[in-house]
Amino acid sequence: MNRLKILIVASEVVPFAKTGGLADVAGALPKTLFSLGHDVRVVMPRYYVVDRQKYSLQPIEGELGVPMGSMGEMWCGAYEGKLPNSDVPIYFIEHEGFFGRKGLYNDGHYSYGDNDNRFVFFSKAAMQLCKKIDFKPDILHANDWHTASLPILLNTSFANDEFFEKTASILTIHNLQYQGHFYKGLMDVMGVPWEEFNPLSLESFGGVNLLKGGITHCDMLTTVSPKYAEEIQTKAFGWGLEHHIQGHSHKLIGIINGIDYDEWSPSCDSYIKATFSADDLSGKAECKQALQQQFGLIERDDVPLIGFVGRLAEQKGIALVAHVIGGLMHLDLQIVLLGAGEMWAERFFSDIVNRYPDKFACYIGYNNAIAHQIEAGSDFFLMPSLFEPCGLNQLYSLSYGTLPIVRATGGLDDTIENYDPKTGEGTGFKFEFATGDALYGTVKWAVDTWYENPEHIIAMKKRAMKQHFGWDDSAKDYEKVYYYALGKRRG
Ligand code: ADP
Ligand code: GLC
Repeated sequence: MNRLKILIVASEVVPFAKTGGLADVAGALPKTLFSLGHDVRVVMPRYYVVDRQKYSLQPIEGELGVPMGSMGEMWCGAYEGKLPNSDVPIYFIEHEGFFGRKGLYNDGHYSYGDNDNRFVFFSKAAMQLCKKIDFKPDILHANDWHTASLPILLNTSFANDEFFEKTASILTIHNLQYQGHFYKGLMDVMGVPWEEFNPLSLESFGGVNLLKGGITHCDMLTTVSPKYAEEIQTKAFGWGLEHHIQGHSHKLIGIINGIDYDEWSPSCDSYIKATFSADDLSGKAECKQALQQQFGLIERDDVPLIGFVGRLAEQKGIALVAHVIGGLMHLDLQIVLLGAGEMWAERFFSDIVNRYPDKFACYIGYNNAIAHQIEAGSDFFLMPSLFEPCGLNQLYSLSYGTLPIVRATGGLDDTIENYDPKTGEGTGFKFEFATGDALYGTVKWAVDTWYENPEHIIAMKKRAMKQHFGWDDSAKDYEKVYYYALGKRRG
């Protein structure tokens, strides 16, 4: 097999800047591809939060000129570094006006008004960077709407550019809800011919839909679990693009995300009180006690402790949790929640703490150390998502012997095996319908099992910890997709 030159272009990458799972994927997949022998490189924006000193980033000499159509040529700089604990090069596009801000996509609550220009600029700059460093990619791997203009550009304004004549493009959808829907004047900024402004390409409701255009033009389309690949072709999960995706389903494949076990293993996690493994769970009990202490909950080892970590967004099923929280508080359990997002939810859950201080605790904000501590110290992990392309937290939970309670959707359904009370088999508790009743009933089922069938719970914890969701297999699947895309491109 040939060694491929792969450029992964993403709007966030761990550990430099992260708001969600995309960053985890963009930080981990390249390392595994590198270990498979490929020349893989990553590029992301140099946001204000990316610390140049901490990561010893080196400036690349000279500027990059980025043609922004009707906005004229714009200039930026670039930095170079390595993904931590690896030799994978990562490049950062530096533009003070676009990226020298506190947030990645918004100011805390409202999206930046120029996100269209910011990410079209970033995508174009990534292509200019290839020329600057003389890296002719076999594969341009775009992720989500932010970089979905890459396949479009490759087929249109860069179609006659010899530098990219052998380059194929892959687009990965991590979340179909966000599509990058903008005014039609963006066509002129992108410098894409107006004949592309049609409903079979990137026009949608009179505007430009970047993700739609990316789906149209990419050589291969992936999403982050097989089930989600099916779901996005239906009305319930398609966010209006289901017919368009159906039309491109011949190039669609679902590849489940892996997790980085260097970061998320209870046997070597420096954030947690005590390390542990499937053979010796005593450290987990210490972690649970530490978590109860830290959050002011009653220190009881016999009570089931349920964790929640995630964006407080509708997607994550937080409204369902809010509906049933009163009922749940009447059960003998404890809940710790970590999250930030929608204002109503931040207020609502903070208020629940005042009403049930012994049983419910929360940290509103983003905190990686606490995320690890919740994974390690909880008995169950609640993830009642309305939709979940893959989900990483349920995979982290398995690694820490924390049994996921999930809605059977997307990657949650693909990765969690439901408990069977007859045999004791399973790795978690699942429910089908996105209703408060189903959620309440499933949490109660888990809690009842905890009290009535403790030996099943212990066996499930151990089974969960033995599951393996590393990147090795998934990276090989991406490798196949890359070769396939190249084959299509080059004939
Ligand atoms: P999504 O990408 O939809 O947010 P995932 O489950 O794929 O969902 O990934 C979420 C990632 O973000 C996980 O690594 C999770 O630990 C992390 N995360 C989410 N919210 C927080 C938070 N408030 N504090 C720390 N980490 C968080
Ligand atoms: C998205 C999805 C999540 C997925 C992550 C990484 O943010 O919501 O399910 O795990 O991307 O692919």
